[in-house]
Amino acid sequence: MTTSTVSSALAGLTAEFGEPGSRFVFGCDYNPEQWDRSVWEEDVRLMVEAGITLVAINIFGWAQIEPRPGEFEFTALDEIIELLHQAGIGVNLGTGTASPPPWLSSRHPEILPMSQDGLRAWPGGRQAYCPSSPVFRAAAERLATEVASRYGAHPAVQLWHVSNELGCHNALCYCDVSAAAFREWLQKRYGTLQTLNDAWGTTFWSQRYGAWEEILPPRRTLSSGNPAQALDFSRFSSDEVLECYRVEERVLRRLSDVPVTTNFMVTSHIRTQDYWQWTPFVDLVANDHYLDHRLPVPHQELSFAADATRGLAEGEPWLLMEQSTGAVNWQPRNIAKQPGELLRNTFAHVARGADGICFFQWRASAQGTEKFHSALLPHAGTDSHKWREVLELSGALRSVREVLGTEVVADVAVIFSWEAWWATDLDSHPSEEVRYLEQVHAVYRALWEAGITVDMVAPGSDLAGYRMVVVPSLYLVRDAEAKVVSDYVAAGGAAVVTFFSGVVNEDDRVRLGGYPGAFAELLGVRTDEFFPLPHDEVVTLDSGATATLWTERIENTTSRTVAAFLDGPLPGEPAVTVNRFGAGSAWYIATALDPEHLRDVLERAADAAGVTTAETAPGVESVLRRGPDADYLFFINHTHLPHTRAITGHELITDRPVTSLEIPAGAVRVVRTRRTEN
Ligand code: GAL
Repeated sequence: MTTSTVSSALAGLTAEFGEPGSRFVFGCDYNPEQWDRSVWEEDVRLMVEAGITLVAINIFGWAQIEPRPGEFEFTALDEIIELLHQAGIGVNLGTGTASPPPWLSSRHPEILPMSQDGLRAWPGGRQAYCPSSPVFRAAAERLATEVASRYGAHPAVQLWHVSNELGCHNALCYCDVSAAAFREWLQKRYGTLQTLNDAWGTTFWSQRYGAWEEILPPRRTLSSGNPAQALDFSRFSSDEVLECYRVEERVLRRLSDVPVTTNFMVTSHIRTQDYWQWTPFVDLVANDHYLDHRLPVPHQELSFAADATRGLAEGEPWLLMEQSTGAVNWQPRNIAKQPGELLRNTFAHVARGADGICFFQWRASAQGTEKFHSALLPHAGTDSHKWREVLELSGALRSVREVLGTEVVADVAVIFSWEAWWATDLDSHPSEEVRYLEQVHAVYRALWEAGITVDMVAPGSDLAGYRMVVVPSLYLVRDAEAKVVSDYVAAGGAAVVTFFSGVVNEDDRVRLGGYPGAFAELLGVRTDEFFPLPHDEVVTLDSGATATLWTERIENTTSRTVAAFLDGPLPGEPAVTVNRFGAGSAWYIATALDPEHLRDVLERAADAAGVTTAETAPGVESVLRRGPDADYLFFINHTHLPHTRAITGHELITDRPVTSLEIPAGAVRVVRTRRTEN
């Protein structure tokens, strides 16, 4: 994906309705098949009232449009596309392959996915197919071909929506078909069995393979399995799901000129796809995001996901393909949004680069497992708080449309890696409580609290433009990727690395000679032993900080100690260090600091590196988007108190000039100011 393709794809979406880039994409999933035809006209009329510009349809349409194998029935879809088109609403057309219909799995039960224990999943939910299944792929390809041939040039169709949240439920399949595909993938990766045996360390526990056929997916074993095998299976599984996307993508590109995408799941609870590998194949990056109320501060994770999505889009505008107007149906307790929260969530995405906001879904279902999931149009109808909030949101987005196409300003990068996530969370590690995403989130939250906007970048990305780079718990890193960080610091950059980084290479092989392996020289430290802490043990540092989870015995080779442990297993030993390296400096945080002191260390490093931080008030999120002629400052007040900020400019939501801006409790404000920098 080139950056110009992304912006032209987004501009294309909006071109129908005015000048390119002049209107926010405001959209939703729509499942008209769940409703009588009589409802459709009302739906479209209300969509126009709400300012909807893009509607995703046919996402779960397979059983409707191919009721029997090879028999296609498009009358209803024709009709709904026409209705939307007549109303001036663009179509985000699903290929319809997200959930195979019963006729497919009953004729071909071998497509059903298998768990690690060898249990087949039954049909009856959704996405019940093995991603490697040639039978499934052929059926999906045939359906995509029919859909693309029929609608590929229809003027209403503005975007292709391949399948839906690929790999959401079925990414890991352990069946025999997957096993054969895994072997093929391994043959491509390693060429010879010798290389594979070496990469997997199969001298351990008599695991040496003498023939490819002996290799299996990491099915349930009695003891721990081989970690390198498990890691490769994660890579393989991500690639297989990507290939399901690519099968359809190739069809769409052959039969249509409309931009192609699918909805990613950059989120806290799904980690099966390495989206850094996916982006070359989508014309615009689209993400689905739902607040996760199982996390400590759900809206901070929202900001993280939005920044990570912008990272995938390489800084270009991206599309929020799904969020909810209120509660979902799939968490243990489905918490409704507070008044104003929908606006805050939406503007946090926009502040962080989303130029389109879509929802799941238009009209709340009356049946099925999602019937208690919120929607734009709730069960209660238009005489409801929700509907009024939706209209208000639509108006608010209209009032800030001049931010479209502007860039989010961030001078700190955080390295984020799905591969490291997979590897870190494997078993038999020093502490099962060191979970990759939790450590990334801890760093992210501290930076968020400090008012520092970050770009999430892939390992190995060019870091030249940043004042500081943060590397949270990057347990798995390639030599070349670590070198990019060292070279960046040597050239004058600043890095902060946190514990359990640099330990293994891409084969999950430990670097010998002392931790943190790939970063030891950069950080000027040498660790000879890890001392993870028992659950709930808290240690103290001479800086006044407390810490949990992790300690390690560090020797300062060239670094100096910034803070040392006072107690715990290593009293008097370094806990935080800093090292001059070439023209720059590198900090090491060798323990899980409490949030306040983690923020403190990151702020010190950021100050020293000349990072611009937003003037912060606790709980007020502030992000800068920069256009050619103006700066746009977004303020999102997550607190119950009003907040006042001295700023001169024009506030877009209330459409007033300001010199002192009051941001009421729970409110959102966007101020256009003079550009501060070129
Ligand atoms: C997404 C999915 C939608 C809907 C939604 C509910 O994961 O793409 O189809 O199920 O969740 O939150």
